Amino acid sequence: MTSSSLIKCVLLSIGAILLVTSSVDAQLSTTFYASKCPNVTAKVADVIKGWIKSDRQMGPALLRLYFHDCFVRGCDASVLLDGSQSEKQAAGNLNSLRGFNIIDDVKAKVEAMCPGVVSCADILALSAKEAMAAFGGITWTVTLGRRDGIVSSVTEGNSDLPPPFANFTQLVSMFAKKGLTMKDMVILSGAHTVGLTRCATMQSRLYSFSSLTPTDPTIEPSFATTLKKQCKQGDQNTIIKMDQSKTTDTWDFNFYSNVIKGKVVFQSDQALRTDSAAFQIVQAQNKAGGPFNSEFQAAMLKLGNIGVLTGNQGQIRKKCNKIN
Ligand code: HEM
Repeated sequence: MTSSSLIKCVLLSIGAILLVTSSVDAQLSTTFYASKCPNVTAKVADVIKGWIKSDRQMGPALLRLYFHDCFVRGCDASVLLDGSQSEKQAAGNLNSLRGFNIIDDVKAKVEAMCPGVVSCADILALSAKEAMAAFGGITWTVTLGRRDGIVSSVTEGNSDLPPPFANFTQLVSMFAKKGLTMKDMVILSGAHTVGLTRCATMQSRLYSFSSLTPTDPTIEPSFATTLKKQCKQGDQNTIIKMDQSKTTDTWDFNFYSNVIKGKVVFQSDQALRTDSAAFQIVQAQNKAGGPFNSEFQAAMLKLGNIGVLTGNQGQIRKKCNKIN
């Protein structure tokens, strides 16, 4: 190669790298609505604060709603669409996801202020963040500019949402499918330090685990007794706290000490003990002043980028539960 063609080649490569970097950066930004709807974040924060004041436990519920949106078809608000075959009907969502009414309320108030401008996908992203900020203990950066999808599929919901009986290998591969690492999975699972679950999700773990033992032997025995007191055999409906180690739900790193002690509600939580690299991460998170919050913030930013629609893709829905 002559020196001039070498220079040309280097310049072209730099150009290509810059192009890729800028197109990735151009996807979402924190200032996306700065001129189009400058007060959107303040408005969402205001409306959400009111809801969390009347029921603080809706903080974790909105965080989960956002996670479930991003995991199926990307963060495109497909989880909010009504329909007999929509994601709402998927096993991990039906009779389980909460907070749709809150998103509808936020959307209506934002629409009144800036009609046709802010997507339901961004409203969900902002609401989850503001809800957990109002709940207390954690906040993260939300980048904006997502557009809303027009498809929502129960089949995709069933295949892409991790079930509570997933083993470690299944969890890693389900997160990898979304571009998230094993570490992201371990860190994001820390969200189970807050929130509620229905007794339905742990019936088999407590009462019909295998032909050899009715109760999962990895549950610490006194914890199994605590759970059985609250969730009787056959009870599908009672709702209990996932972190049983405290009376008031607070954002902390308890999830990781619960994993270490065998005091977590799901097999998928307990699975984080079954791999030595994952268990090292669990142990690193289990300390005051540890890396949990900053690593959770970074992982949330990644979660919010999954499969986003931007530019002219999708639409800006007028109502979050149906396409325009
Ligand atoms: C690693 C795979 C995961 C599995 C298998 C899983 C499974 C579950 C299940 C079964 C419930 C209880 C649902 C019910 O009883 O109706 C739940 C609740 C919850 N999950 Fe996860 N989850 C996972 C990851 C995550 C992630 C990544 C987040 C957020 C970043 C998250 C946030 C939550 C929250 C906040 C709740 C409580 C919701 C409420 O109070 O309404 N989960 N999860």
